[in-house]
Amino acid sequence: MEGTVNGISFEDSGPRDGIPVVFIHGFPFDRTMWELQMKEAGKIRRALAYDVRGHGRSEAGDGQYSVELFVDDLVALLDHLRVDRAVLCGLSMGGYIALRAAERQPERLSGLVLCDTKSSPDTDEAKIKRAAAITAVKKYGVPKFAEEFIKAVLTENTLKTKPAIASSLLNSVLGNSPLGISGALLAMAARTDTTAALAKIAVPALILVGEHDKITPPSAAEAMLKALPKAEMHVIPGAAHMSNLENPAVFNEKLLAFLKQQRI
Ligand code: MLT
Repeated sequence: MEGTVNGISFEDSGPRDGIPVVFIHGFPFDRTMWELQMKEAGKIRRALAYDVRGHGRSEAGDGQYSVELFVDDLVALLDHLRVDRAVLCGLSMGGYIALRAAERQPERLSGLVLCDTKSSPDTDEAKIKRAAAITAVKKYGVPKFAEEFIKAVLTENTLKTKPAIASSLLNSVLGNSPLGISGALLAMAARTDTTAALAKIAVPALILVGEHDKITPPSAAEAMLKALPKAEMHVIPGAAHMSNLENPAVFNEKLLAFLKQQRI
């Protein structure tokens, strides 16, 4: 079933009973990047995926985003669907949203899956890069930005041997407006540091990271592993930043084993 609440477009599948898993996509893609995981997770529990504001079929609005607003949208979606608690599964920007949601509303969390993400905020260098990206999107348009971005998130091997992954990601980015992309870049640049909150996350956490991820490298994942009280971590072989797409076999095996645990 598909629906829209508060301008946020979502997809809801799987059995109705039990605690759902909510998939939150990375920047600047949309919920279709979780298609394989929605299919597999939906066999064992309720699975939800949504388009973050400014992405996919969700409204772009005024483009004035913050991670706080993205968390408000997530909470409004959970409220609308009468979901008291969920397992949040976020990749990269989706992980930033999940981590801040865990810090703000720990009572809504039953488990956390952090994929190719980090708890630390942007460095000054990263903020300057975001500003340059906003200028470039405005000046040269989304297609040029998209082409370069996709090269940075996949391994050379994925680009060469699995062109369908790159073209599907490209389509997602091209579906987003310059306003939505710029707004998300500003939101990520202004996000808070969630590192101190990790020690207070009492629910089980799973950390997955592509072995060749250069944007949110395995070292960032290891830092979260050390700080989280109940976490396990797996490095996904042959993957860069889009570990769920580049090696779905290993990614899904780890994800499903985690979701099958009784306690979450
Ligand atoms: C993402 O994949 O969501 C972004 O690359 C995250 C970021 O730029 O920090």
